[in-house]
Amino acid sequence: TDIDAFIAGLPKAELHLHIEGSLEPELMFALAERNGVAIPYASVDEVRAAYDFSNLQDFLDIYYAGADVLRTRQDFHDLALAYFDRAAADGVVHAEIFFDPQTHTARGIAFDTVIQGLLDGMAAAEAKHGLTSKLILCFLRHLSEEEAFATLAEAEPWLDRIAGVGLDSSEVGHPPAKFARVFAAAAGKGLKRVAHAGEEGPPEYVHEALDLLHIDRLDHGNRSLEDAALTARLARTGMTLTVCPLSNVKLCNVASMDVHPIDAMLRQGLRATINSDDPAYFGGYVGENYRAAAHARGLSKDDLTMLARNSFLGSFLPDADVAAHL
Ligand code: HPA
Ligand code: ZN
Repeated sequence: TDIDAFIAGLPKAELHLHIEGSLEPELMFALAERNGVAIPYASVDEVRAAYDFSNLQDFLDIYYAGADVLRTRQDFHDLALAYFDRAAADGVVHAEIFFDPQTHTARGIAFDTVIQGLLDGMAAAEAKHGLTSKLILCFLRHLSEEEAFATLAEAEPWLDRIAGVGLDSSEVGHPPAKFARVFAAAAGKGLKRVAHAGEEGPPEYVHEALDLLHIDRLDHGNRSLEDAALTARLARTGMTLTVCPLSNVKLCNVASMDVHPIDAMLRQGLRATINSDDPAYFGGYVGENYRAAAHARGLSKDDLTMLARNSFLGSFLPDADVAAHL
């Protein structure tokens, strides 16, 4: 349709993408074979059939298991480049991608192996597509504060290649307050801060992310809408929300795309963006997220332009680069 063509032609930044969540079943099988790793699925179709989630934890269990096929620097390069190829095809010109080092170091894969492979993939994407990117190191919030500090220490030699820190994994029961000290330490090293909050957790977790983690960007943030004063604060301060429509529906945080609040967020003056989260698991890359939300919610070309513009305004690019993309 006309709207689909308009979306395809919009230059975009992607600000909420877990690189481990871009592992397509085909690559999972290829890496399992290359590395001699057994996987509990007989076929690609069987893998896809397993992607039927009723909440975040359901998904996380399968997502962490899938990551076990990632072993070598080459694997992380291949994973990243496969994502960037898909993103470039959707008009993404800049991506700020999450990685979860603890998912790998817990299995005996060195931090350096992971980050070197990802950096190789990022360099390849810039050479191949002109697509620029940044890395955001996420702490797994179901693990301890002490383990987060150990991960930050492992990142020390790479700090000039890491834009910021984030917070992901099981939200409820692991409030932002648990990581206030490690985020303060990260800030002291000059790192930006983002956190998943208000995906499944209550608006109080968004308040904590703002007041205790001093976040520069809010990942998801949907449940902020339950708190009018919080919504007004996010709008007034120009906080960017990295919204992930297909993820919200797949994880049953939104009943269906027909009732997704993306347009309500824009009407309330929030700087919302559209992102893919874990595209291999949730049924689509960033273009599909734009299309699904646009069709279900009747987004106009002005709305879509605003969403894409917000993605650059909310990025960690220098002001001159943001201006060049607007
Ligand atoms: N939420 C929390 N943790 C995650 C997600 C998510 O959507 N994706 C990967 N890790
Ligand atoms: Zn996420």
